[in-house]
Amino acid sequence: MSALFQPFTLKGITLRNRVAVPPMCQYEAVDGLANDWHHVHLAGMARGGAGLVIVEATAVSPEGRITPNCLGLWNDAQADALKPMVAAIKAGGAVPGIQIGHAGRKANANRPWEGDDHIAEGDPRFWQTIAPSALAFGGHLPRVPRAMTIEDITRVREDFVAAAKRALDVGFEWLELHFAHGYLGQSFFSHHSNQRDDIYGGSPENRSRFLLETLAAVRKVWPEHLPLTARFGVLEFDGRDEETLAESIALVQNFKREGLDMLSVSVGFTIPQTNIPWGPSFLAPIAKRVREETGLPVSSAWGFGTPDAAEAAITSESLDLVMVGRSHLADPHWTYAAAKKLDVDRASWTLPAPYAHWLQRYAMA
Ligand SMILES: Cc1cc2nc3c(=O)[nH]c(=O)nc-3n(C[C@H](O)[C@H](O)[C@H](O)COP(=O)(O)O)c2cc1C
Repeated sequence: MSALFQPFTLKGITLRNRVAVPPMCQYEAVDGLANDWHHVHLAGMARGGAGLVIVEATAVSPEGRITPNCLGLWNDAQADALKPMVAAIKAGGAVPGIQIGHAGRKANANRPWEGDDHIAEGDPRFWQTIAPSALAFGGHLPRVPRAMTIEDITRVREDFVAAAKRALDVGFEWLELHFAHGYLGQSFFSHHSNQRDDIYGGSPENRSRFLLETLAAVRKVWPEHLPLTARFGVLEFDGRDEETLAESIALVQNFKREGLDMLSVSVGFTIPQTNIPWGPSFLAPIAKRVREETGLPVSSAWGFGTPDAAEAAITSESLDLVMVGRSHLADPHWTYAAAKKLDVDRASWTLPAPYAHWLQRYAMA
């Protein structure tokens, strides 16, 4: 019996299996509005059998977008445009989730296939980036951001709250805070990007403050019966990993105290020069450690995209939920294919009827 295809319950929500589609930016929105591209993209993966489909990093404010073509959730029109996405994901049998975030100093970039670099000053699509400190990411993103004032910090926290409320109104049942990948939340936590000398910088407690305050504020408006998760890079692979991991685990314990239901364990990506040991399931032992030391359910991504790797992540008790990203871009029905490969009992596949009738009832080669 496959462990990957056991249902997973978190708070009041039960996923039909332990496969999740992680947020994956499409960079195809105009004015932050979801459109047909997002609809087909998300509906396909939900129909393909994944238990959870999380909509891409969706900005809480215009300046929080990674690119001018990212989704947004700072106005009602954007909320309305997301309603068909929620309906399509549910119709496919998956739970609809969304990741909300602010890109901080990595914002205002060109799309990956259009350079991946900062948009030039003078371009009509240029905007001022903000971050904990006036320190550039470097590499392909050399622009120095403006250091945030306390008013900025308060405003961005409230932007997260407003976006969370809209996500709830739209019908999302799973909310992920994007505190990873060198974006605003991660850059508050990392000493590489945060050199503030006020209560938001310096000690690990101070560098955690923005993340914890944002989480606590969102928890107040996001219902207790629905999962609230965060994605966070627990280490940078920058040569001081044991120290960072210890600080991260302390932060995750505080996340738990503030009401976080699950952590998506990832990499910090706060600086360009790192030594990441890319390879299949490379985050599994790290996620397992976070899971054991915090007692919080965890998910992770990066290299779990074969049925055997995904199954092993659950049976080894490294993960509670497996994020399968690029393999879903290659095959939106990845989960269905994995069920076949893992010899899952056909009756338990729970595909939507127009597919289930043919794929479950009749044997396929
Ligand atoms: C096209 C693309 C867009 C992505 N956008 C996001 C995003 O919006 N938020 C996020 O946290 N991670 C994002 N990621 C990272 C994925 O969520 C995931 O961690 C990554 O693809 C590794 O998992 P995989 O090996 O299964 O592909 C993106 C990855 C890809 C390929």
